[in-house]
Amino acid sequence: MEKTIKLNNGLEMPMVGYGVFQIPEDQTKEVVTAALNDGYRLIDTAAGYLNEEAVGQAINESSINRDEIFLTTKLWVQDFDGDNPEKAIDGALKRLNQDYIDLLLLHQPMGDIYNAWRAMEKAVKAGKVRSIGVSNFESFQVQDLMMHNEIKPVVNQIQINPLNPENDNVKWLKGNDIVPEAWGPMGQAQAGIFTNPVLVKIAKAHNKSVGQIMLAWNLERGVVVIPKSVHPDRIKENFDVFDIDLSDEEKQEIATLDQHNSYFKGLLTPQTVKALGSMKFDYKN
Ligand SMILES: NC(=O)c1ccc[n+]([C@@H]2O[C@H](COP(=O)([O-])OP(=O)(O)OC[C@H]3O[C@@H](n4cnc5c(N)ncnc54)[C@H](OP(=O)(O)O)[C@@H]3O)[C@@H](O)[C@H]2O)c1
Repeated sequence: MEKTIKLNNGLEMPMVGYGVFQIPEDQTKEVVTAALNDGYRLIDTAAGYLNEEAVGQAINESSINRDEIFLTTKLWVQDFDGDNPEKAIDGALKRLNQDYIDLLLLHQPMGDIYNAWRAMEKAVKAGKVRSIGVSNFESFQVQDLMMHNEIKPVVNQIQINPLNPENDNVKWLKGNDIVPEAWGPMGQAQAGIFTNPVLVKIAKAHNKSVGQIMLAWNLERGVVVIPKSVHPDRIKENFDVFDIDLSDEEKQEIATLDQHNSYFKGLLTPQTVKALGSMKFDYKN
């Protein structure tokens, strides 16, 4: 299985990364260091995770060359309007203590996304950011963003796992040369996903864990995964997924797990847009 994927701007992105959502700042340096030592070369953080400084420290203190690491962060909605995106990009560079960010994402399709996108385009031209993309966008929103701006997003980071395969969005993104990237690739350990009988059976057949099967299933579809764990054994395990070859029959069985109207769907309701769109984080730009 390929370990990297080529983005539409020609850059290579690792297929398996390490996500740091909900990891407290004081624990982040240690776990990112463990992930780097285990072979991860993609780290996924966000201004809203309030742990960018620790991510930057782990990267700067590792013996791995910076150009071998692919660092993603995200701008939060509170920074999308006016001249806030420029300040937020400089703020992220400062918090991360980096000369550049490999991939900068609009965290949510809310607020003044067009203004923020144009500032992100300028940051690419200024060499502050190498690639730009979006997160939690519906495909129609990605289409509109592409039509009215210069630089096309390289990825759309959305929730994708066997209970929520996002078949239509994955197909559309791939057809438009935009890489689908899975957040919550293990369903955030919700909805009994780790004890799902189909996944347990397939995991046993491969002598792998359910988590590894979920990750391999996404990789095989050309979807980048960024699993999160704070446990050293799981961090290691979640990177040991490149040798799993699922049979057509197994993939068909996994396809039956799509819950359609499940808990995972419909995250972007008027209520959540109101709650997320007004959420403010206390990071300093
Ligand atoms: N763009 C967005 O809006 C957005 C939203 C959410 C997440 N993300 C990104 O995506 C990353 C991953 O998503 P996520 O953290 O929400 O969910 P996830 O990776 O699907 O699941 C994480 C959960 O699974 C558990 N876990 C991890 N590996 C395991 C294993 N091998 N066996 C059993 N349990 C395991 C973790 O517990 P332990 O930590 O206790 O091991 C944690 O409870 C985030 O860290 C973040 O970078 C982005």
